[in-house]
Amino acid sequence: MLLVTGGAGFIGSNFVLDWLTQNSEPIVNLDKLTYAGNLENLQSLKDNSNHIFVKGDIADSALVSELLQKYKVRAVINFAAESHVDRSIHGPGEFIQTNVIGTFNLLECARNYWNTLAQKEKESFRFLHVSTDEVFGSLGAKDPAFTEQHRYEPNSPYSASKAASDHLVRAWLHTYGMPVLTTNCSNNYGPYHFPEKLIPLVIHNALKGKPLPIYGDGQQIRDWLYVTDHCSAIRCVLEKGLVGETYNIGGCNEKANLQVVHTICDLLDAKMPKTDGTSYKNQITFVTDRPGHDKRYAMDASKIERELGWRPAQTFETGMAKTVDWYLNNSQWTENVTSGAYRDWVAKQYV
Ligand code: NAD
Ligand code: DAU
Repeated sequence: MLLVTGGAGFIGSNFVLDWLTQNSEPIVNLDKLTYAGNLENLQSLKDNSNHIFVKGDIADSALVSELLQKYKVRAVINFAAESHVDRSIHGPGEFIQTNVIGTFNLLECARNYWNTLAQKEKESFRFLHVSTDEVFGSLGAKDPAFTEQHRYEPNSPYSASKAASDHLVRAWLHTYGMPVLTTNCSNNYGPYHFPEKLIPLVIHNALKGKPLPIYGDGQQIRDWLYVTDHCSAIRCVLEKGLVGETYNIGGCNEKANLQVVHTICDLLDAKMPKTDGTSYKNQITFVTDRPGHDKRYAMDASKIERELGWRPAQTFETGMAKTVDWYLNNSQWTENVTSGAYRDWVAKQYV
């Protein structure tokens, strides 16, 4: 049995769906169902007895300990987090609570449980922590991509909280001998991506005839990875990763934000042309920049390829086409998640 945390969010739900399609091993899915968690993502599993959903907080030690023991968990995969940089700027407290205190609690519960296991189970147990490239800070235009050795230089409350959680995971390995693994991944995109993040926000706003907000000059660079490729990398690290190692995961798809938005507009112009014949690009609007905005991220994912044989299956072009198709075919999903609380967020962020 796996314990997956945050499995009702964007990446977590893609992971759970993929895992249960490919494996007979069940999952207990612990998720607090914050604004970002959505059981609709897991609707197709409602009759699948290999998926046990539990609504709860990773910071609840009684609950986490009970789940570990009851389901004889052999691995924890920690996706649960507050994940949106802009929200961390408006209110960092929740980020410290879940990303730092929550991860600390999960580690402590896992350690106590791990200590009760027989030697063989102890050796095969894994705690896989899902982290981000943002812990490494920002790159200059000509700098080489981040390797696993790059120093931690987080710049936002979000990335600082993720960096803190990575350090806790490392310390639980060195101090207690816990069999941990950490993955640091670049920007994901694909189905079930909450429309507060750039790609789903732009698709949603374009179709609604609203402005497509570009922070600053739109020349910031991200390394985009289709979400199911991130999921396959995590499965690969869980199966073959060496205890205590960290693995960078990336798509080798560095794109400036403006370029990403143009790609979305081109795809929509072709697949869902506007009735007045104009391009969605006309909706692009430059807005005030994000404070402390990191200029460039790029991941050197050669270690995971060399040592574990992982490579992404999707290119930026195939992944973006699949993503736009998914949003066009699942407009009800977007309608459902962009109700009351979402509108409050948009009003606060894009005044
Ligand atoms: P998300 O915001 O879509 O989902 C987070 C999930 O965690 C939600 O379902 C939410 O309800 C749940 N959650 C939040 N607080 C919780 C708590 N205290 N207890 C239990 N559940 C809680 O995030 P995502 O984009 O799917 O990211 C998942 C993980 O991957 C995060 O750890 C994030 O830092 C990391 N990551 C994300 C990206 C990306 O591009 N989205 C890239 C690299 C790494
Ligand atoms: O790099 C991995 C990280 O990617 C993850 O750790 C985070 O959880 C995830 O949210 C994501 O962070 P970003 O800040 O890079 O993603 P976001 O989609 O918020 O923004 C992508 C870029 O687009 C960034 O440079 C800011 C810009 N942007 C974003 C929004 C929401 C805009 O120009 N306009 C917008 O309205």
